[in-house]
Amino acid sequence: MQNVISKGGLEGVVAADSAIARINGEIGELRYCGYLISDLARYSSFAETTHLLWHGELPTAADLAALEAAMAARRELPREVTELLRTIATRQQPMDALRTAVSLMSCDDVPGPAADREANLERSINLTARFPTVIAAYHRLRSGHEPIAPDPQLGHAANFLYMLDGQVPDPEIARMLDVCLVLHAEHGFNASTFAARVTAATLSDVYSALTSAIGTLKGPLHGGANTAVMEMLLQIGSEQEVDGYIEALLARRDKVMGFGHRVYKVVDPRALILRDFSARTAEITGEPKWFRMSQRVEQLIKERKGLDMNVDFYSASTYYSMGISPDLFTAVFAISRVAGWLAHVMEQYANNRLIRPRANWVGAADRDYLTMDQRG
Ligand SMILES: CC(C)(COP(=O)(O)OP(=O)(O)OC[C@H]1O[C@@H](n2cnc3c(N)ncnc32)[C@H](O)[C@@H]1OP(=O)(O)O)[C@@H](O)C(=O)NCCC(=O)NCCS
Repeated sequence: MQNVISKGGLEGVVAADSAIARINGEIGELRYCGYLISDLARYSSFAETTHLLWHGELPTAADLAALEAAMAARRELPREVTELLRTIATRQQPMDALRTAVSLMSCDDVPGPAADREANLERSINLTARFPTVIAAYHRLRSGHEPIAPDPQLGHAANFLYMLDGQVPDPEIARMLDVCLVLHAEHGFNASTFAARVTAATLSDVYSALTSAIGTLKGPLHGGANTAVMEMLLQIGSEQEVDGYIEALLARRDKVMGFGHRVYKVVDPRALILRDFSARTAEITGEPKWFRMSQRVEQLIKERKGLDMNVDFYSASTYYSMGISPDLFTAVFAISRVAGWLAHVMEQYANNRLIRPRANWVGAADRDYLTMDQRG
């Protein structure tokens, strides 16, 4: 067998067939099941996109109504999960709490084998419906407040914002958040999705696969970048300080969060839509500072490093203007990406083969064991 050694990080390695997302990094194009992301952002909703990802086709009106109704009806958490959140909320970071809560959700499992598609569609509805409830309940509890019960009359994104602070959001803000969930829902064999597929490929269950994925999304080189972007903007503090801060950061040769991408060689199409949302949320809130600072950072990094922004860059100022706490941004990413993870886990089960690569050996030559008294 021929050894194929990637240049590191499995870059360029094709790991499996997939029919979910197609990315053309050369021209900055992303499609879910053949549909352009810009069309889905304009015309679709998170629930509709979720149906597309799980079934490969856009839903009929009846399919969509059924999925929306099921997701709205299943937002409540199992009692054990709420009790667990009470004990960990002040001691775990958001992504750690989400990972722990999702792992515990297997206590309320749907009957059926781990790889059964019908059971997994039901599990997928439960999990996707409950991610926002976990994050909102966690946030309320860590802030010393009781969780707010989900409102089945509100849409998925609007209900999440409502559960955070009890205020029904402006419909335009809720629609923008729903589109943010569409934009983040799926992105091929990214690190967290690959982690989910590796776990599922052992024929382990969806809760284990999602737990792997959440742990992987948490890192600042992946989903954690949106929180890191906002931390940077808060640290910079004002438009006047942007140039000096970025010059110093570049002089230290630090990475700038929210820039660069393994696959896109031109600007990520999602980032362009998010830049518009950042501008619009700034208008609605009457606080343009975070958008203007972001624009200047974008310009400087392009000029100085030739790097384009990625999906995390303008999602930071957008979520901040929506009133979401910066340390929850990666969890908001997970509220969306869970739909893609589940699509991939079901695709993996449908045509499964254990994922088990090999390493290129760079260690010691073969040698004889030395007993303790021979080791000097
Ligand atoms: C996304 C990311 C991990 C992709 O990494 P990758 O494909 O492994 O690319 P590399 O880290 O090898 O970067 C290639 C070159 O571009 C530079 N580069 C890439 N992203 C950079 C960034 N955000 N800031 C500064 N330099 C960057 C690297 O320093 C490297 O330069 P070098 O060849 O002179 O050493 C990387 O761009 C990054 O760390 N970005 C910041 C984190 C982020 O925003 N993540 C969210 C991704 S959606």
